[in-house]
Amino acid sequence: MTAPKLFSMVAAAVLLAANLSAQTPAHTFAIGTNDFLLDGARFQIRCGEIHAARVPKEYWRQRLQMAKAMGLNTVCAYLFWNLHEPKPGEFNWSGQADDAEFCRIAQEEGLWVILRPGPYACAEWEMGGTPWWMLKDDGVKLRSRDPRYLDAAKNYLKEVGRVLGPLQITHGGPIIMAQVENEYGFYGKDTQYVDELRKALVDAGFDVPLFQCNPPDQMKNGLLTNLFQAGNFGSSVKNNFAKVRKIQPVGPLICSEFYPGWFDTWGQPHHLGKPENYLPNLKLMLDMDASFSIYMAHGGTTFGLWSGCDRPFKPDTSSYDYDAPISEAGWATPKFFQTRELLARYLLPGEKLPEPPAQNPVISFAPVELNQVAPLFENLPAAIKDETPRNMEAYDQGYGCILYRTRIPAGAATTLEATAIHDFGFVFIDGKRAGILDRRSANAKIALPARETEAQLDILVEPMGRINFGPEMSDRKGIIAPVKLGGEVLQGWEIFNLPLDDKMVAGLKFHPGPIILKLHPISPEEIATAMRNSAPGFWRGTFNLEKAGDTFLDLHSWGKGVVWVNGHCLSRFWNIGPTQTAYAPGCWLHAGENEIVILDYTGPDKPEIAGLAKPILDELHPEKDFQKAHRPAVKLNLQSAALANTGTFAPGADTQEIKFAAPVSGKFFCLEALTAQDEKPYAAIAELDLLDANGNAISHNGWTIAYVDSEERDKEDGSAENAIDGQTANFWHTQWGSASPVYPHELILNLGKSQTVSGFRYVPRQGGDSGRIKDYRILIGDNLVQPK
Ligand code: GLA
Repeated sequence: MTAPKLFSMVAAAVLLAANLSAQTPAHTFAIGTNDFLLDGARFQIRCGEIHAARVPKEYWRQRLQMAKAMGLNTVCAYLFWNLHEPKPGEFNWSGQADDAEFCRIAQEEGLWVILRPGPYACAEWEMGGTPWWMLKDDGVKLRSRDPRYLDAAKNYLKEVGRVLGPLQITHGGPIIMAQVENEYGFYGKDTQYVDELRKALVDAGFDVPLFQCNPPDQMKNGLLTNLFQAGNFGSSVKNNFAKVRKIQPVGPLICSEFYPGWFDTWGQPHHLGKPENYLPNLKLMLDMDASFSIYMAHGGTTFGLWSGCDRPFKPDTSSYDYDAPISEAGWATPKFFQTRELLARYLLPGEKLPEPPAQNPVISFAPVELNQVAPLFENLPAAIKDETPRNMEAYDQGYGCILYRTRIPAGAATTLEATAIHDFGFVFIDGKRAGILDRRSANAKIALPARETEAQLDILVEPMGRINFGPEMSDRKGIIAPVKLGGEVLQGWEIFNLPLDDKMVAGLKFHPGPIILKLHPISPEEIATAMRNSAPGFWRGTFNLEKAGDTFLDLHSWGKGVVWVNGHCLSRFWNIGPTQTAYAPGCWLHAGENEIVILDYTGPDKPEIAGLAKPILDELHPEKDFQKAHRPAVKLNLQSAALANTGTFAPGADTQEIKFAAPVSGKFFCLEALTAQDEKPYAAIAELDLLDANGNAISHNGWTIAYVDSEERDKEDGSAENAIDGQTANFWHTQWGSASPVYPHELILNLGKSQTVSGFRYVPRQGGDSGRIKDYRILIGDNLVQPK
């Protein structure tokens, strides 16, 4: 090697201790003063992210060939700890979890690999990849030096080293770098914790360069100066690299997550990347000699129940299409060809772009009836008895749904209330649905009708994915007790574990569908009403195919639930959209009869399903939501509030931290935007954090939007939740599509309970100037917002 190695992590002792395969490395990789160095020569990393778990194993090669044909020379891959360690100490590296095979195929296809093993990943994946069983311990502090977390994390990394260590470039494999933690700067400041994980990787045998990644503004937190630093951002390339340079004066520049699009959450418009952002910024990086990783090059599908949830509670859709250049089903999009055409101009000496592989065949099929039903209440396991209901993890259950049952006395109409519900509680009295407890509401409370006799109360709780980002990741599911009926605590419960795993689904007892379907004459409306009010259950049917191929199951007529095909759990669905289809890969279908099972919590309009030739990812139906008004009508009472602060934000995209003269307490926090930097009528906020008395960010757990005067929910996702979801790449934006209401603009947060606020952090909208706020005032109080 000729050029100096700057961030070399290799220590001879480590190599000796590593006990890895003794394959002779054919290549070397190092981080030099100005460049990445492959075999000693300048190597511009043109990388894109693909997660093995989000692509059917049978299609890994096709997707990697697509990545190569798009002009990439490297793929970046997270590992998800919870996929690999389903039970403490029991590891799984087979089937969809065979990441070693994924790396080997990448190598065969001429791609290098950047490995991001976690233990924390984020990635819109259930709990950011953290195993749920961590939550069985009430006090565990995730992503910290708490030995209950750190010891388990180290044990997992040791196993990662055992399986993937031999695939490093230093041992003849494709892995050129490995990442320590993930965007830790968003979460904490404990450098020692990051160093423990760095050491754990070294102890596990990782002898390739290690690195940290963060958005440049977060890099200073938990910074290990002996590690290479990579920046994550989707716009403002020069500005962001300049910030990286301040922290790391030498070394090559790499944007380790460059966003071509964005992920979707239920109930919000489908995200499309901005063309004016993507290509020009990519070109800029290429011209600057910088390296990059497109997050995602191919997003794929978060199969099964693996999708995560954003802050404060924005569950992610199962489609992870991401508006990536390679679509969810592996198709070449216009962005794919644009990228290929651009990257073709920056190939390294001797490089050639292969042609894209053939697209997998696509099929469709006409609607078939799902004519068998297994009502959930008829398929219960033995009950667990408990005086007070506890969260799902306390009953040793990680995923699925869970039923809580007790008896309630006769009595007048009253209220039913839990401390919290995670996430949807379908409430039944003597088997008839009486309401839905909904985590999106400010409280877990519903009105119950009068009962003439004692009755059975059932609360069937459907958890969505656990929060994958920020301090709320300890997102325990089920009922958070106590449950009160008219203010009286309910005791004496029976709990039924319904894990929705293969064993449970295979054991369901089906019988012919509801009689009502067979009755004549009955109008479609009557059928629809009967179906909608039916108790939650599993529906089963079959469809015949002449030939297998990729298809998209049309879930329009179904309510909310989960869909399986031939025993593969495909995805969650919810009629509110934006996703209306489920990707059913052809490799999981076959010629002849195929079985489909659907769990619907709220009941279908019509129990039938068709296979479409195209996905539907962008169809919202707010009118189908069981939470009727998107924002409840409220009365504002701004005069009642204390003026905590008033001021003027600086122009530009930088985060601004404002300290109040004195802390102010209240349940509601109002940011009133008075003027815009560009004098246009729009206001936007990428992120707001409130600071407690010690200047630390207050958890967003339990926060809701109490009021917002305007938000764009049609032309783009400008919903107010974006200002408190922890992500700085999306933003709240006042309406600009069919109307453009003028200043002032108010955004009022309900903090769940009275909080002491000593200041706040404002992240202006990134990647575009429109909506940047200039003058503002902050009001805090307990009565700013009242129900109308
Ligand atoms: C962050 C994380 C990624 C992913 C993206 C959003 O940058 O590091 O894992 O969650 O946000 O898709």
